[in-house]
Amino acid sequence: MKKLIVALDVKTENEALALVKNLSPFADIFKVGPILFLASGPELVKRISGMGKNVFLDMKFHDIPATVQRSVESARELGVYSLTIHSCGGEEMIKAAASVSGRPKLWAVTVLTSQITSPDVVIERARLAMNNGADGVIASPLEIEAVKKACGNNFYVITPGIRPAKTDDDQKRVATPAAAIKAGADFIVVGRPIIAATDPVAAARRIDEEINGKK
Ligand code: C5P
Repeated sequence: MKKLIVALDVKTENEALALVKNLSPFADIFKVGPILFLASGPELVKRISGMGKNVFLDMKFHDIPATVQRSVESARELGVYSLTIHSCGGEEMIKAAASVSGRPKLWAVTVLTSQITSPDVVIERARLAMNNGADGVIASPLEIEAVKKACGNNFYVITPGIRPAKTDDDQKRVATPAAAIKAGADFIVVGRPIIAATDPVAAARRIDEEINGKK
């Protein structure tokens, strides 16, 4: 599978479907978070799946174990490929999410990439996620190697905070696509550098080339 995940942080179904169609050569997984899900809902997720693409549902569940467990069941029914829970929900919550049979891949958010933190906190949360059944974590590109070292190579590390060029926005722990891939990211999540670009296809192509070492 391609390593680029495109964050569909847009508000309308039309914009989302156009991005999926146009960026299809560069990504197999598209991320749907609250911005789009609250506007277009489950039907849109089904349409993206119907286009042969995988959906990563990024709702960062952080609630009591029973609620999270049943939310994971709903996501399974929707047919998403992966979803996020927040590692801060703790041991019981992560276990409850992981216990759902036939569930999507479970990726636990460690510390938001918009926050400044020490790598130790990220590693501690990654260990907690792994020990309680998650398949991987969302971390910044700066912690990939440390998480892989602590949790092993089979534990997924997915990294937002990807910035091909220096920008001044809310993301704090950032790196270029090439640096994240070199450090061992299984997937990189890119939103605004693609979807807010004047030419999203050209932006995705450049990132694809960077991932494949052509740049
Ligand atoms: O636009 P940008 O490339 O910053 O998008 C990154 C995406 O990844 C956003 O949809 C954001 O919600 C999400 N994300 C993040 N940091 C996390 C988890 C998810 O930036 N720790």
